Amino acid sequence: MFSLSRKLRRDGKVIGLVPTMGALHDGHLSLIRKARQMCDVVIVSIFVNPTQFNEISDFDAYPKDLTADSSMLANLSVDYIFAPSADEIYGPNFKTFVTVDDLSEKLEGSSRPGHFRGVSTVVSILFNTIRPDVGFFGQKDAQQVALIKRLTFDLGFEAEIVVLPIVREDNGLAMSSRNERLTPEQRSAAGIINQALLKASRAAQEGESNASKIAEIVRNTIESEPLGNIDYVAVVDNATLEPIEKISQSAVLIAVAVRFGEVRLIDNIVLGDQE
Ligand code: PAF
Repeated sequence: MFSLSRKLRRDGKVIGLVPTMGALHDGHLSLIRKARQMCDVVIVSIFVNPTQFNEISDFDAYPKDLTADSSMLANLSVDYIFAPSADEIYGPNFKTFVTVDDLSEKLEGSSRPGHFRGVSTVVSILFNTIRPDVGFFGQKDAQQVALIKRLTFDLGFEAEIVVLPIVREDNGLAMSSRNERLTPEQRSAAGIINQALLKASRAAQEGESNASKIAEIVRNTIESEPLGNIDYVAVVDNATLEPIEKISQSAVLIAVAVRFGEVRLIDNIVLGDQE
């Protein structure tokens, strides 16, 4: 991958990287289509990163089907699939991890200790190996996006980070490989999450600027659905993830995690200017 990327850069190609852990769905495909529009060469990495799983059982249970994933990519004119083994990414006696302070511990970080250290480390290794001009990520993982933008800037990676909107199922449920584990009843009920976020966004547009009130709208709406159990509703600054009190001009992230049975779903909406 090092020598391929070196050659591509020597030939003046604009390299787009779409990092994934496989189990591809329409959300990933939207990233790949955008990469195809923007870049000369599209590389999709498929690597189920062991260091970002808190439980080895979750890692073992994570769907791994390179053949199915590759055939989904067949019609999208992807130039390269990079599917390294864990030993290629994490060599013998691997000791070096990347941690993005503050951003890693909040929201998802508090219930998944070490998760973002794994994400930051693998993304740094992928960026360093492939040296993409553009990296494509989904807004669904808003905290991951904040963290990757931070580490790209802090570590001086040249990649531009392009973030694409959440792709949703017909009832508004954000696409995720986890949705497959919901019962049909839970899957249909989980549409309430997006309804709650939209309701809060409308309230903000109509002038509600108190962050606690906005959070309350989200909470009350989700609680009207008996199958959902809220883990958190957070109204935070989109870049620093610090809680805010008032909705103002700068981008505000409303992020939620909700359990439906055993399955924990995350979703979010951004209010205001994103850059
Ligand atoms: O979002 C994901 O699928 C993963 O966290 C990523 C960015 C591919 C790193 O393993």
